[in-house]
Amino acid sequence: MSDTSRLTPADNASHAEPDRHEPFDSCEDNPSNPSANDTIGDVIARRFARRDILKGALGVTAIAATTGSLALQAAEKASAAEAVSRFPFKELEARVEAVHRVAEGHQADVLIRWGDAVFADAPSFDPLMQTAAAQRRQFGYNNDFLGYFPIPGAADPSAHGVLCVNHEYTNEELMFPGIGKQDRKFDKMTQALADIEMAAHGGSVVEVRKEGGKWRVISNSKLARRIDATTPMDVTGPAAGHPRMLTAADPTGRRVLGMINNCAGGVTPWGTWLTCEENINFYFFGKLADDHSEARNYKRYGIPGNILNWGEYYDRFDVTKEPREANRFGWVVEIDPFDPASTPKKRTALGRFKHEGAAGIVNKDGRYVIYMGDDQRFDYVYRFVTRDKVDTANAAANRDILDNGTLAVARYDADGSLVWMPLVQGQGPLTAENGFDSQADVVIEARRAADLLGATKMDRPEDVEANPLTSKVYVMLTFNELRTTAGTSPRTDVNAANPRVNSRFGHIIEMTPPDGDHTADRFTWEILVKCGDPAIADVGATFSSDTTRNGWFGMPDNLAIDHQGRLWVATDGNSSGRTGRADGIWGVETEGPARGTSKHLFRVPVGAELCGPCFTPDDQTLFVAIQHPGEADDEDPKAPPATFENPSTRWPDFKDDMPPRPSIVAITRIGGGKVGT
Ligand code: FEO
Ligand code: CA
Ligand code: CA
Ligand code: CA
Repeated sequence: MSDTSRLTPADNASHAEPDRHEPFDSCEDNPSNPSANDTIGDVIARRFARRDILKGALGVTAIAATTGSLALQAAEKASAAEAVSRFPFKELEARVEAVHRVAEGHQADVLIRWGDAVFADAPSFDPLMQTAAAQRRQFGYNNDFLGYFPIPGAADPSAHGVLCVNHEYTNEELMFPGIGKQDRKFDKMTQALADIEMAAHGGSVVEVRKEGGKWRVISNSKLARRIDATTPMDVTGPAAGHPRMLTAADPTGRRVLGMINNCAGGVTPWGTWLTCEENINFYFFGKLADDHSEARNYKRYGIPGNILNWGEYYDRFDVTKEPREANRFGWVVEIDPFDPASTPKKRTALGRFKHEGAAGIVNKDGRYVIYMGDDQRFDYVYRFVTRDKVDTANAAANRDILDNGTLAVARYDADGSLVWMPLVQGQGPLTAENGFDSQADVVIEARRAADLLGATKMDRPEDVEANPLTSKVYVMLTFNELRTTAGTSPRTDVNAANPRVNSRFGHIIEMTPPDGDHTADRFTWEILVKCGDPAIADVGATFSSDTTRNGWFGMPDNLAIDHQGRLWVATDGNSSGRTGRADGIWGVETEGPARGTSKHLFRVPVGAELCGPCFTPDDQTLFVAIQHPGEADDEDPKAPPATFENPSTRWPDFKDDMPPRPSIVAITRIGGGKVGT
């Protein structure tokens, strides 16, 4: 039994305590950014780009009121031109159901579910007889990022590959019978259940093949792998071996057990999987003394979160007993998907924060550029540029390329320019005087370093990804209902790039590097679309007027750009009560007169979010991850909680004795062809 003082939430966040089970988004967290960065508000109108007005659903009235009938005629002409769609498929109806649905002409088949065998010797899944040993051989929980790697030399690289899957977190109330939500009480948690949770985290590597138009997992693949919260990993880069990374169990500061809360990620051109640790604070337990040398650092990250109680069984997750373990999480991890014996590497040069994804692009000068969001209200957008060029002829030569380079954070100015500010020890305020004695200190406390540089506080940056065909970079800002009016508070008020007060539905920013140079110090930016229902004037959504009632969405989270350069946006947080629709994926026009038009392709079952959209090289398959099916549908805090016994759906098995199971789905066109055409 634990004593109650250890269960009292630490005073680690300046707003309400983080709640993993908040109805809006089960993997978000509450803000911990105390800095006064970026306060302007009355510049919004200037940055409410003319294009937004022309293309927005409110545009016609706005134009009529402001610029008269000539502009109105021009807008109508533009609207007619929008008949030319890059997404010609017949749109899916937006609504909420117990099942998943895909647009006509497509099929969407479940490929692998939580508990399915990853290894041939895995026991068959029995939800009433779960063990950690079984889970270590089975597909983990809450699949998020998906990375597809063609098998080298495959006859058809789009029909035979390995799929790398993140297992972000666990829903104990849906996984385990009879325990319900364990928020902060943990009275029904046991070490055996915690061990299953730890085994259900991490990642899976499975070999997959398409035969006769259907995908299947190869059951006896030599490439199969499970990674979990106990898998040994190396620490590389500036923080490796630093005193702040040393623990009782690891006096080298270079060997960590496991990765946790791996949300989105990336696939590198040298054939590795980048998997990103996000809400790591949830897993740390206890209370750190206010005068501890890490107290300021941990407060900025909301550590300890006391959301899971692994620290009751394992000292390393209890900050009272092991105050430095939490510095060893919050990194981007690089894994070789073709060598199951390889040791994952935590690449500390990319900074420590609540990483959403790490999508990259080879710059025209050969260096690799990775864009990254720190998913918390009022946190930042980052970029990493390698020092060295990618060796395209010799993949192994890039093995440690991510250990040297420049991390930078974004400041979005009201004039539409963007400045990348380097996080380099010794430059500007990042000096010993401010607690940054070395680059290790900078990467370990990347958030505080970015605060001092005056980065722009964003509405929860999720995926950030470049379109290689246009060089435009898209930033998903999922929502931030704590955003206040200009002048209310320098910590929370609107700014040019995050212009909506109480931003409930999020928005998408498009960034443009000059001459396609992703390493440039300055970019320009504009808002591609403000999300939400365009039919409700107060929402202020700016989807094009050709977007149907099914075509709009809220809460953009992950994105994919197919090989035709088309943007696909996946969502997290739609529900009956919030938007009258389930989460899913939408194709969004980015070019020409159709820009800002969105169209619905696929939706998930009730309670779930859609993660990890990933196309095969031929665009004939879109893999998606269905995360946390069966959670409650609504945002009503009084609604009865969804549990193992009473989930909101039993997708995908629909058997009375089987709980809902997070699963991967393969979307293809019936009879072949590119998805979404
Ligand atoms: Fe795990 Fe930011 O979503
Ligand atoms: Ca999630
Ligand atoms: Ca996400
Ligand atoms: Ca999200």
